Amino acid sequence: MCGIIGYTGINEALPFLLSGLEKLEYRGYDSAGVYVHTDDGRDMLVKEKGRVKDLEEKTKSYDLSGKSGIAHTRWATHGEPSVANAHPHVSDDGRYYLVHNGVIENYKELKQTYLSGVVFKSQTDTEVAVQLVGKFAAEGLSTLAAFRKMINLLNDNSSYAFLLVDTKTPDLLYTAKSKSPLLVGVSKSANVVTSDATAMLNLTKDFIELQDGEIAIVSKTDVKLYNEQGEYFTRQPFHLNIDPQAAEKGAYPFFMLKEIDEQAIVARHLIQHYFVDGLPHIDDAILNSIKQADRLYIIAAGTSYHAGLIGRRFFEKWAGIPTEVHIASEFAYDHPLISQKPFFIFISQSGETADSIQVLELVKRAHYASLTLANVMNSTLTRDVDFALPLLAGPEIAVASTKAYTAQIITQIILAAAVAGGHTELQGQLSRLAVDMQAVIDGKDHIKVLADDYLVNTDRAFYIGRGADADVTLEAALKLKEISYTLVEGFAAGELKHGTISLIEHGTPVIGLISQSKMAGLTRSNLEETIARGAKTMTIVTKNLANATDEIVLPELTGEMEMFGPILEAIPIQLLAYYTSLGRKLDVDHPRNLAKSVTVQ
Ligand code: F6R
Repeated sequence: MCGIIGYTGINEALPFLLSGLEKLEYRGYDSAGVYVHTDDGRDMLVKEKGRVKDLEEKTKSYDLSGKSGIAHTRWATHGEPSVANAHPHVSDDGRYYLVHNGVIENYKELKQTYLSGVVFKSQTDTEVAVQLVGKFAAEGLSTLAAFRKMINLLNDNSSYAFLLVDTKTPDLLYTAKSKSPLLVGVSKSANVVTSDATAMLNLTKDFIELQDGEIAIVSKTDVKLYNEQGEYFTRQPFHLNIDPQAAEKGAYPFFMLKEIDEQAIVARHLIQHYFVDGLPHIDDAILNSIKQADRLYIIAAGTSYHAGLIGRRFFEKWAGIPTEVHIASEFAYDHPLISQKPFFIFISQSGETADSIQVLELVKRAHYASLTLANVMNSTLTRDVDFALPLLAGPEIAVASTKAYTAQIITQIILAAAVAGGHTELQGQLSRLAVDMQAVIDGKDHIKVLADDYLVNTDRAFYIGRGADADVTLEAALKLKEISYTLVEGFAAGELKHGTISLIEHGTPVIGLISQSKMAGLTRSNLEETIARGAKTMTIVTKNLANATDEIVLPELTGEMEMFGPILEAIPIQLLAYYTSLGRKLDVDHPRNLAKSVTVQ
């Protein structure tokens, strides 16, 4: 997490750094800071607790005109959110300023071994890094050598994207990364460093990707790259084909609503991309590798894990391959017996989730075959696997994942069909589904009324369902709790009477998801049991299974299309969460304590 940005060029650095930070805020937003080397030679550091707009306000009290600088928006790992703990951090002698994304696991040992005489100004692990650079430079090393020496002292569990300025050469940016994203953007007027290309699209779409262990020295006209051995090399920039508007909110009050609205369009993009002559089309190398596997292991976290639970059903039913779905943070340290010929599928919006990367490292060491489905291509999880497929959802900015979730499910469906040897009906079915998704999205006003009535004024709620609907209850609960701070549980409806029913009181909202015909009656019975104990129930149900009193009726899904129920259900559960958060006047896109890209374990 944390967003970093650096600028060295011919124009004013500050506006550029602040607008970049705003775009990076989804990576962390508990404090922010900026360092600018001014035109008249001052080294100016301004930091503030809270959001980027608070920092921006504070910068107005200073003259910060200058053509180079670095900035940071923080998601606290070591030390509470505060001005002192905000980045940039500065070395004791005032020579070096540094921002960092990641975690230095062995910072306490480094502090004890090398920095016993230094008085620290913060509680962060990051300050150790800048103090080490300052110490090694004071002992006679060049800045590059001191920077490298510090990096080499970090243990294997550490992760970092660093951006360092030496005040003796303030228009040079020293940068390096390992297990945290970092790109150098190049343009005629300036070169920049960023955690995420979308923060820089107003300046450039040309980026040089740094690999783990490499160091770059960025000046306004040049980018010098050094490998782990310290040898100089060159690398061509890649051009990012992306519409800057896609990362803008436009007329929407929040990104989350825009992203919910985009889901039918994303479904159509996926159909366009993955179908040729009416059949699902996936690279033969991927299909052959999957077909050789005796078991699939889907690895993911949070919402992406929930998408994996749905995907599993298609891999098993259509492709006939036993499939397990695992929470990445668990699998990395406590995995079950792995089969003889496993195939790993990583699912991730960001492609940078540390928990999943940890599993990927294990997979690489064992030489297991792997594929990543990610929304951000060129990310760590797409680079270090055998194969990668894009989710094509476009930039997802709101912290709560929405369109990436449905894109993850649809991509798995297409993949499963391709592994199964094609599916002549699927393109038509998915096209119909996209129309149905749009119809559900268009009914959002009704869902707002229900959110206001059922959820805005409650402190707890339950989602129940069976089969694939039970999988969706997990995502429904996560969405609602993360942005509205309601205590919500989602679980298999049959489990209710095995304990949780004791929590039902007069007026407790219980929301039933019903799209699977075999189990519809059973879920309804479970809802009745809660009504008998005072619950205020709501149903989200497909038309073919609906009755006159259901609250949210989704388009009909019969026959094989019943398996797509979770995709239609995703929309009302996202909208209920959105409108509940809105009704409570919360910052929907930036829920407390969270960040979009979870790059720490
Ligand atoms: C919830 C949410 C998270 C992410 C999780 C994994 O709305 O967004 O639960 O799904 O942090 O992130 P990715 O998909 O980037 O690996």
